Amino acid sequence: MNKKFYVTTPIYYVTAKPHLGSLYSTVLADILARWHKLNGDDVFFLTGTDEHGQKVAQAAQAAGKAPQAFVDSFIPDFIELWKLYSIDYTKFIRTTDLEHKQAVQQWLMQLMDKGDIYKADYAGWYCTPCETFLTETEVAGRTEPPCPSCNRSTVWLSEQAYFFKLSQYQDQLLKFYEQHHDFIQPHARLNEIISFVQSGLKDLCISRSTITWGIPFPNDNAHVTYVWADALNNYLTAIGYMQQGKEQGVAKWWPVDIQVMGKDIARFHAIYWPAFLMASGMALPHHLLVHGWITVDGKKMSKSMGNVVDPIALAKHYGVDQIRYYLASALPVSHDANFSHVELTQKINADLASELGNLLNRMLNLAQQNNVTVLPEQAHLSANADNLQKACLETITNFTYAIEHGQIHVACAAVKQLVGQCNAFFHTQAPWKQAKENQQEFVASLQATAACLVTIAHLLWPIMPTKMTQLLQALSVPVIPHNDLQAHLMGAWYHTFHLTTCSPLFERIEAPMEQQQIPAQPVLAVEEIDITDFAKSHLVVGTITAVQPVPKSDKLLQLTVDCGTYGIRTILSGVAKHFAPEDLQGKQALFVLNLKPRQMMGLTSHGMMLSAADETGKLQILRPGNPVPVGTRLS
Ligand code: MSP
Repeated sequence: MNKKFYVTTPIYYVTAKPHLGSLYSTVLADILARWHKLNGDDVFFLTGTDEHGQKVAQAAQAAGKAPQAFVDSFIPDFIELWKLYSIDYTKFIRTTDLEHKQAVQQWLMQLMDKGDIYKADYAGWYCTPCETFLTETEVAGRTEPPCPSCNRSTVWLSEQAYFFKLSQYQDQLLKFYEQHHDFIQPHARLNEIISFVQSGLKDLCISRSTITWGIPFPNDNAHVTYVWADALNNYLTAIGYMQQGKEQGVAKWWPVDIQVMGKDIARFHAIYWPAFLMASGMALPHHLLVHGWITVDGKKMSKSMGNVVDPIALAKHYGVDQIRYYLASALPVSHDANFSHVELTQKINADLASELGNLLNRMLNLAQQNNVTVLPEQAHLSANADNLQKACLETITNFTYAIEHGQIHVACAAVKQLVGQCNAFFHTQAPWKQAKENQQEFVASLQATAACLVTIAHLLWPIMPTKMTQLLQALSVPVIPHNDLQAHLMGAWYHTFHLTTCSPLFERIEAPMEQQQIPAQPVLAVEEIDITDFAKSHLVVGTITAVQPVPKSDKLLQLTVDCGTYGIRTILSGVAKHFAPEDLQGKQALFVLNLKPRQMMGLTSHGMMLSAADETGKLQILRPGNPVPVGTRLS
């Protein structure tokens, strides 16, 4: 019976189109899935989208759409991109799928019955973009701690919530890590997880009552399920978990063999997820493959940074398989790596066009020029061919070891070395001379080259499925799964090849693509004004010396502001929901002083304080980086 292999990608947030970073996780998972298919395994490859939560609800609101319509609008972008990049997934799950929502509710009820979920009050600093509360260590006694993952500001939330008894699983988790050293690839990341767990686990808040865009808590519709308790379960609900009549799916595929993800979400997968599974009596994943980030100028590529690279534009300029090869070979899985058009161009031109594509074409051209269309199997190998055969065997072993340990870039490097050895063989044999001197040796050299190319093409097929299928077609070799791939590839050395024609596999890239980035936000048009118009506004730095609530107003605060030579002014500001008086007392801020006085709630305001809303909607007061004398005018 064939072995089963279950592999997953993270499910992607649907607040924007997928970018190169999202593609990276997906391509790595596809490579693993294809490798196992090639080895005759029965593969289930899951990907999908994470559609609930405050972040999505806020983005939908900003776009003026209902959340469901908003998330629906992104799905074609994901499906089409995966199709373009030959992502051969088995199932695309959406957390808004009815089966998923019902199964998550069943799961919650099961854990509530067991006593692993309880209701209590909760207050803490919350990062909306990451949908997570900060731990005490992360807060480190600060009053406005930034999020340790994304560095953005957090908001103070206080509400009744449901909790999962994570703290109960601390010892069991530590024991599990100790017994499963290879749970996380690369291994170094396991140490980070262990020290996090050792520092003490608190119970995990798994519901929210201030948002509605989520899976309603069973029997308590005032709460929705907090995104990670919803999202992580997709890996189970996709194969039929908690769905009547679908028990076979779970029995067949669970536990998952490998889960691919970026380092930013390793903690959720390596701590919360195993604890959820322990509580549910389910086996734990065999492995997590944690990759680094693709960076641009040292910063994570992300929509909010405005530095994302569009994979569709890349495919048009460089080709799909070329990009897959770059992602797999040029970025070491374990580290962050900078994306570079120059490096990408060099890699395509050197590894693919000059080394691999050129070798195939030279071999085919020589055969054609000498009217050879059949390369018969050889009873004996020359010493050079014998060495090349050994190199193939060694490469298969090294490639297999590397890919099965999540070292996809190392696996690629092993094949690159073999391509080099095959080129060296070709040059040493000099078949263009042999063709004139010894027809039998000529044919034998081409046959050995073809046999080696069969190994190369099969090993690279999971990475470049289209191009490697074309390469093999030129030798009339179909890509067929083999339980014993190594034996099959070594069999190619005793195979008769029927040659066909093949246009150059890889075109040289003449110039790197111009850096084209998707703007973080649509560029809005603004009406231009003359500098003299701007000079009319009187913007001044002032110090807030006193703050009072305004009776009967939940929005306004009355500020007394020392504006230096412009005097002491009373200024009303609509920030009461964002700041307590003591937050503003003694702080500097920027004020517009020459607006006409305005009546509000029976008081008069003699200016306006400047503020800006951050991503979560919380207002931030604009102020100089360091104190400056009061009354300083902006220039
Ligand atoms: N929805 C959660 C995952 C829930 S899984 C139960 C999420 N989504 S995400 O869209 O923000 O990220 C999905 C994946 O894309 C993560 O593995 C993340 O690391 C990866 N990448 C996003 N930007 C990336 C780079 N710039 N570089 C490499 N991968 C990065 O997190």
